[in-house]
Amino acid sequence: MSKPKILIAPSLLSADFTILSEQVGELEKGGADWIHLDVMDGRFVPNISFGPMIVRAVRSLTRLPLDVHLMIVEPDRYLGAFHDAGADMVTVHAETCPHLHRTVQAIRDLGMKPGVTVNPATSLDAIGGILPSVDLLLLMSVNPGFGGQKFIPGSYKKITAAAGMIRETGREIRLQVDGGVDASNAGDIVRAGANVLVAGNSVFSGKDIHAAIGRLREAANG
Ligand code: DX5
Ligand code: ZN
Repeated sequence: MSKPKILIAPSLLSADFTILSEQVGELEKGGADWIHLDVMDGRFVPNISFGPMIVRAVRSLTRLPLDVHLMIVEPDRYLGAFHDAGADMVTVHAETCPHLHRTVQAIRDLGMKPGVTVNPATSLDAIGGILPSVDLLLLMSVNPGFGGQKFIPGSYKKITAAAGMIRETGREIRLQVDGGVDASNAGDIVRAGANVLVAGNSVFSGKDIHAAIGRLREAANG
C-alpha cells in the first residue's frame, strides 16, 4: 500500500462563528483537506456545541468533505439528520454505542463514511472488532469536550498500535488524531502512524489561518 497523503482537518469548534463564512473561506484558501465538526451534547461530554443546523450552514459554504465527530449519547437517533445536513463522514464513540456494528452499518446505509473513535482512557480492544467495517479510526489525544487542551503524550503509543491494527485489516482506513495537535507535535504524530490531523486551536487562535495550516502541513510532512 502506498503512503497516503497527510490530510489536515481543521476543527470549526475554535472558529469565530460571527464570521463563519469568511472562516470557511480561509480554510479553503489555506488548503484544508476536510472540515472537522465537533458535535457535543452536554451529556457524553461536559459541553454543548452545535448540531445539524450548523453542519447544514457549513455545507452551503463549501464543497470540502465534512467530517462530523459525534460526542453525543444515542448517536443513532441523529444519523439521518446529519446526513440530510450534508455530512460526508460521521464518527461515533465506541463508549456511546452498545451496538457499534449496527450504528456503523446505519451510517454506511445512509451513504456516509463511518468512523469510530475512543477516548484516551479507552483501550483499542473496544474497536478491534469493528475496525474492518469503518473508513476512519479517530484517536482522541485529549479528553473530548473542549478545544485548546494539551496533547496527552501517552497517545503516541496508541497511535502506533492503531496503525498496526489498520495494516492488519489490509484496508485503507484513515487514522485521525484529534486534540492538542500543533506544529510542534504534528511531525511526531505522523511518524507514529497518523495520516489525518484535526486541529482547532492551532489553526484558529492566530490571525492567519492560511499560515497556520501551512505550518501544520510543513511539520506533518517534515
Ligand atoms: C475535542 C474535539 C476536538 C477539538 C480539537 O473534544 O473533539 O476536535 O476541537 O481542538 P484543539 O486542536 O484545539 O485541541
Ligand atoms: Zn473532534
